[in-house]
Amino acid sequence: MRSVLLAAALVAAAYAKTGIMLPLYEYPFGDAATVDWDAVVSAAAAHPQLDFYIIINDNSGPPYSPNPPAAIKDFAPYLGSLNSHDNVKLIGYIATGYGKKTATEVEAAVDQYTEWATAEGWAAGVSHDIHMDGIFFDEIDTAPSQLDHNTQISQYAKTKFAASGGPVVLNPGTFVQSGSESLFDAADVILDIEACYTNSSGRMDFNGYACDPSASGFSAFTPATLEKLGSNPTYVSKSSVVVHDFYESWNPYEPASEATLQTHVNAIIAKGVHSFYISQLGYLGNFTAEPASISNVAKLAAAAQGLS
Ligand SMILES: *[C@@H]1O[C@H](CO)[C@@H](O)[C@H](O)[C@H]1NC(C)=O
Ligand SMILES: *[C@@H]1O[C@H](CO)[C@@H](O)[C@H](O)[C@H]1NC(C)=O
Repeated sequence: MRSVLLAAALVAAAYAKTGIMLPLYEYPFGDAATVDWDAVVSAAAAHPQLDFYIIINDNSGPPYSPNPPAAIKDFAPYLGSLNSHDNVKLIGYIATGYGKKTATEVEAAVDQYTEWATAEGWAAGVSHDIHMDGIFFDEIDTAPSQLDHNTQISQYAKTKFAASGGPVVLNPGTFVQSGSESLFDAADVILDIEACYTNSSGRMDFNGYACDPSASGFSAFTPATLEKLGSNPTYVSKSSVVVHDFYESWNPYEPASEATLQTHVNAIIAKGVHSFYISQLGYLGNFTAEPASISNVAKLAAAAQGLS
């Protein structure tokens, strides 16, 4: 029996795993935020076989002057802790403006992240490893008219981060348009499902992510949404899924159940995507709110794959 379990564990480890794609846009200062960042570090330490791709976003990314920004004093100890774990890849956030930023501007932003090496926090004389392993390009328009631009910036970032192996992630937040499928070759990962869990409106919208079912194109996530990724194994294995606003009702606030979280995590992992996250609220905080806390989502993701 034990050898069967061991064999199963080895097989699970040999196959591509589904990791965590965490949009950790919370500024690491203040009690609520440091509790959240500590929980992210703890989750990465608790699940050494689970990959964590953690998006680092200070003030919507470069241009920074100085570079790294002054805010690095607040980030540095956390980036150092996260970088000490082999299962963590930090990826630098860049807003691309749906093609409005030129390739030159976007590439300059990539260059800025390549310069992040070490930095001190507030404790003088203590240096932390703040390097990034890859890039997260937000606001990607996958219209074929943008294909050359998106391919160029992806390849540029892949070249710049070749030593760490990335990942270079594109975030259209929705399915890649027909004619732009080659983006799956140009980038390592495409975040092609980014959606609300809830159908309930009313949460204050700080950065455009709150759920408004009356908005055109609104479509809440269910496990059936995963079918729209299709069955091309390359595309599926390079897809990422981020679901936010994991509650049934905003006012009065009623979080979704633990059982629903389990169902969703299992469905996402069964699909075999590259990575995912289910966020209890948005990306700016509440990463320890249950049931979709970082520790709980990581625990379920590891358990579903037989990973330590
Ligand atoms: C949201 O609405 C869609 C469409 O009616 C439905 O399929 C889905 O189950 C709903 N989700 C929740 C969490 O109520
Ligand atoms: C989200 O975080 C804020 C700030 O810590 C807190 O006031 C609020 O109660 C949290 N909401 C939930 C649902 O956990």
